[in-house]
Amino acid sequence: MRLEILNHTHRQTSRGLMGHQQTEYIGQQFDSNDLLSTAIKEQFLADESSALKPALNLLQRDNADNIEQSRQHIENLSRELIGAIRNPETPGNGAGIKFSPHIPFEDFLSEYNLATQEGIALMCLAEALLRIPDHKTAQALIEDKLSENRWNDHIGHSRSFWVNASTWGLLLTGKYFNGAQLGSPPAIFKNILQKVGAPLAEKAVRQAMALIGEQFIAGQDIESALNQSRQDKAQGFIHSYDMLGEAAICQQDVERYNNAYQQAIQALHNNKAYENPLDGLRQDSISIKLSALHPRYEFHQQQAVFDQLLPRLKQLIKLGQKNNVPITLDAEESFRLEISLLIFAELLKDPEINQWPYLGLAVQAYQKRAIPVIEWLTQLARKHNTVIPVRLVKGAYWDSEIKYAQQMGLRNYPVWTRRENTDANYLACSHLLFESEGRLYPQFATHNAHTVASLLHFAQSKPLVNYEFQRLYGMGETLYQHLSHLPQIISTNTPIRIYAPVGHRVELLAYLVRRLLENGANTSFVQQVKNEHYKVEDFLQDPVTKIKSNTSISNPKIPLPKDLFADERVNSFAWNLNGSLEFSNLINQMVLWYEHQWQAAPLSASNKALFRTPSTVTQTLQNPSDKNKIVGKVNLATEQDVRSALDQAHNAFPHWKLSKPQQRAEYLDQLANLMESNSAELLSLCVLESGKTYANAMNELREAVDLCRY
Ligand code: FAD
Ligand code: 2OP
Repeated sequence: MRLEILNHTHRQTSRGLMGHQQTEYIGQQFDSNDLLSTAIKEQFLADESSALKPALNLLQRDNADNIEQSRQHIENLSRELIGAIRNPETPGNGAGIKFSPHIPFEDFLSEYNLATQEGIALMCLAEALLRIPDHKTAQALIEDKLSENRWNDHIGHSRSFWVNASTWGLLLTGKYFNGAQLGSPPAIFKNILQKVGAPLAEKAVRQAMALIGEQFIAGQDIESALNQSRQDKAQGFIHSYDMLGEAAICQQDVERYNNAYQQAIQALHNNKAYENPLDGLRQDSISIKLSALHPRYEFHQQQAVFDQLLPRLKQLIKLGQKNNVPITLDAEESFRLEISLLIFAELLKDPEINQWPYLGLAVQAYQKRAIPVIEWLTQLARKHNTVIPVRLVKGAYWDSEIKYAQQMGLRNYPVWTRRENTDANYLACSHLLFESEGRLYPQFATHNAHTVASLLHFAQSKPLVNYEFQRLYGMGETLYQHLSHLPQIISTNTPIRIYAPVGHRVELLAYLVRRLLENGANTSFVQQVKNEHYKVEDFLQDPVTKIKSNTSISNPKIPLPKDLFADERVNSFAWNLNGSLEFSNLINQMVLWYEHQWQAAPLSASNKALFRTPSTVTQTLQNPSDKNKIVGKVNLATEQDVRSALDQAHNAFPHWKLSKPQQRAEYLDQLANLMESNSAELLSLCVLESGKTYANAMNELREAVDLCRY
C-alpha cells in the first residue's frame, strides 16, 4: 500500500520521544483507515438498541397491510420447509423428490446439546483431544470427561436408533455395554476401561471424534472432495471449497495453506469439463480465510499485511481469474473486519482485478457494523463500476466474540446479544443486497427455514435480481433438497452452493468447534428443529415481532463487559485497540504525553516529591526503542528515604487497621478510578518507558485496576 499523506498532527507531535518508525506507523494507520466510512467505525461497539434501529426501520418501511401479507406468506413457506426438514420421507413434502438419507448426526447433537453436561463434556473432548499428542494425557482427559456425567440418562431417549446406539459408552464398549449393566456412570466408565483397556478406549474415542469430523469435511484433499461432491453435483448443487487452515502462526503454515489453495484452483479448473464456462455464476468456487495467509493478519500490522499478504492474495486471485474459479474471502473474527475491508478496497484498485465480478466477500449479520459494511461495499462497486458477490452469513464466532469482549473489558459487544436481533439484521442486510441495483450479487448462506422463507418472499418482488443460496457441507441437507425442487428456484435457475471444507483432521479443530457450537447451541435453528419440544409454531414468528415482544433490545442475561462481575466489582475498562476510531481517540490523548518529561522521586514526609539533597542520585530514563529519547528522570531513594518511608508506613498502620473495611475498599476503588481516568498518561509511560506494546500496556494497566477493585 502506498500512502500519499502522513497525518501531519501526529507526525509533528510524536516527533519528540517516539522513534521515527513508530511515528510513521501511527500516521499510516490513520490515513489508511480514512478509506472506511465513519459508520463502520462508529458501529463497532455501539449501543445495541440504537445500532439495531436502522435494521428495524428497513424491515418496517412497508405499510401495515403489506407487512401482514408478507408475514402470512413467509409463515406458510416456513411451515412447508420445516415440515420437509422434520419429515423428509412424508409424501406431499415435495412429490417425487429424492431426499438424501436422514442424517443421524443431527439427532446425536440434538440429544447431546450444549445445554446438557454431557454435551459440554463431549464438546470439551472434541476440542481438546485433537490437540493432545501423548496417550497418557489423552487417556486422562477421556476418563475425566466421560466418567463424571449422566450418560445413562440418554440411553433410549432419542428417537434415533443411531443416537441411542452411539451414546458414548456404547461407542467405547460396543458389546460390553447394555441397559442391564448400567450402574452409576463413573462406575460404568471404570468398568469399561477395565474391560477394554485405556488404549482401546482412547482409540475408540479418537475414532468417534474422527467420525464427527467427517460429517463436516468433504475430503482430506481436493481430489477426494471433488469425488465426494459428485453426487450433489449431479443433482445440480455447486460448491465452494474451503481449504481448512486458519490463524497461521508461522511462515511454513502460510506456505502450506497457500499451496493448498493454488492446487485447489488448479484442480477445479481441471474438473470443469462438464461445466458451462459461460455461466460464471454456476462455477465451483474457492473460499479463502485470510488469517491462513499471514501470521499477523490483524489491525496493528497493516503495513506488514499490505506488504506481504496482499501480493500473495493477488496471485491467488489472478490464478482464480485465469482458471475461471470464483473466489470469496471468508469473514473471521470481528477484530479483523477493518483490515479485511482495507485489503478488499486495495484489491479493487487493481484494474486487472476490479472488472472480474467473481471476487466476493462474506459479511456477518451478527456484527453491529453489517449494514454500514454493505453500504460501503455498494459504493465501492459503484466507484469501480463492477459487481461484488456478497455472501451474507449470520456469523460463526458468536461465543468467542462475547467472551473476548468480556475478557478485554470493552465498552460493548461487536455482536448482537439476542438471536432475533441477528435474524432481523440479516433480513435487513438482505434488503440492501436485493436493492443494490446490481452492484452486489447476493449469496444467502443460512440453514434457518424461516430466514430462507423470508428470502424467497423478498426475491419474488425482485424478479430481475440474480442471487444464490448456500449451505455448509454436512448441514441443512434436507432443507436444501426440498428447496432445490421448489418451482420458484427451478424457474429462476437459482444456484444452491455447498461450502465444502477440505483438509486433514489436524487442521479441522477450529472449524469443527464452530460447527459443534452451532449445532449444539440451544439458540440454533438446526438444534431446535430437531428437538421435539419445539412446535412448528415456535419457528414461525418473524424476528421483528419477537424483538417487539422482548422487554429489552439487548439480552439481560449477557451483561455488558463492565458489569460482568455484577455487584462484586466493576470490570476494568479497556480501549478497543482493534478499532480505528477508539484507537485513534486513545492515541490522540497519548501523543499529548509524548513530549512530556516525567520527574519521579521517593514520596515521603521528609523528602517531598522532587526534593533533592546534594547526595541525591538522579537516573535518566530512556525510551528503549530509541535511546536518544529521554522519558524522564528519577531521584533514587537514599537509605534515609527508605527508613523514613518505613517509619511512615509503620505510623500509618494503626489508622489503616482501625479503618472500616468499607473505607479501605473506597481508598482502593478511588485508586482504581484514578488510574482509569489517567489511562492515557499511564499507558504512554508503559509504552515510552518500558517499551511495551499498546496491548501489553493496556493489560498492565487493567491488571492494576482489577487488583485494586478485587
Ligand atoms: P440460525 O440458527 O438461524 O442462527 C444461528 C446464528 O445466530 C449463530 O451462528 C449466530 O451467528 C447467531 N446467534 C446465535 N445466538 C445469538 C445471540 N444470543 N445473539 C446474537 N446472535 C446470535 N460464518 C462466518 O463467520 N464467516 C464466514 O465466512 C462464513 N461462511 C459461511 C459460508 C456458508 C456457505 C455458510 C452456510 C455459513 C457460513 N458461515 C460463516 C457460518 C454461518 O455464520 C453460520 O452457519 C450461521 O451463523 C448459522 O446461521 P443460520 O442462519 O444457519 O442459523
Ligand atoms: C467457518 O469457518 C464457515 O467460514 C465459516 O466457520
